[in-house]
Amino acid sequence: MDTVLSGIRSTGNLHLGNYYGALRNFTRMQHENKCFFFIADYHSLTTHPDPKILHGNVKNVLTEYLAAGIDPEVSTIYIQSDVPEVCELYLLLNMHAYLGELSKTVSFKEKARKHKDNVNAGLLTYPTLMAADILMHNADKVPVGKDQEQHLEMTRKFARRFNNMYGVEYFKEPVAYNFGQELIKIPGLDGSGKMGKSEGNCIYLSEDSKSIEKKVKRALTDEGPKEPNSEKPECIENLFTILKVVSTEEVVMHFEDKWNTCEIRYGDLKKQLAEDIIKVTAPIRERILDIQNDEAYLHKVATEGAEKARANADKTLGEVREIMGIKKF
Ligand code: TYM
Repeated sequence: MDTVLSGIRSTGNLHLGNYYGALRNFTRMQHENKCFFFIADYHSLTTHPDPKILHGNVKNVLTEYLAAGIDPEVSTIYIQSDVPEVCELYLLLNMHAYLGELSKTVSFKEKARKHKDNVNAGLLTYPTLMAADILMHNADKVPVGKDQEQHLEMTRKFARRFNNMYGVEYFKEPVAYNFGQELIKIPGLDGSGKMGKSEGNCIYLSEDSKSIEKKVKRALTDEGPKEPNSEKPECIENLFTILKVVSTEEVVMHFEDKWNTCEIRYGDLKKQLAEDIIKVTAPIRERILDIQNDEAYLHKVATEGAEKARANADKTLGEVREIMGIKKF
């Protein structure tokens, strides 16, 4: 049985990008593997160091993991900062992570450009902390969206480097959990780029139907195809990308045909898209409303999850210390 680890930062509510990127096919995933789902609250401090909102955000992600269908009886759900062993592994891995490779990471360069006043060391070493999360459980597979592909590649590099440096076959080189498909990028509704919290173009799992309909209605479109079988502009391609994940093949074919024959009506496409998004999110929203005030349940899940995750973490850290020559008197 493979070990699978999925992580989401506690920077706000979960959106469709997180759902399809990190929790893809989670029902099958949970039952076929040993799964860990965690909330990356340390990671969120690299860009969102606000003590007034951090705990609320952690609670949101915990609630939404559960509402999306992660079963704590089957999988382990935990909060990153409840497993402090990860900090030591992060420190140890940082000894073999080089400034050159860290500073060339696409996400670092992007964040450094966006937050010029806060280019902190945590941001630079974000990939080592992520590698520590993954290697802590010696995960075989990691469900991630396209934007995390490079971080996963770096995790493999750190694992390989560790094994080579210490002459061991200790860490596995984790791969993306994607059923052999391309990694997914759910686009925003604003015509370009990915759906993301900081881009402000998200549809959230907790959103009500009216608000989803409104957002989809406002999505950017063009004046329509001029010639049969023409290439779609990015804003239209984006609507089709989302349609492909939320709708049936017949629905997608129907609108592809309409596009190819220049008969497409964007109003119809948006109506169908909103309807099919709501089909996915409405039951999750209902469960969010049920769970979010159940403090006792959330406490139980987080406490039991931390215990299970720490048992694994403690074992890994002991072995890594031993390999690196850190010994007790
Ligand atoms: P975060 O919170 O930015 O994203 C969490 C997961 O959601 C995916 N995702 C998307 N997938 C497709 N389309 C989108 N528009 C989209 N937006 C977000 C991300 O790819 C990610 O899988 N660095 C991680 C958090 C993390 C982690 C880990 C993940 C920390 N340690 C260890 C896995 C394993 C992140 O990007 O969080």
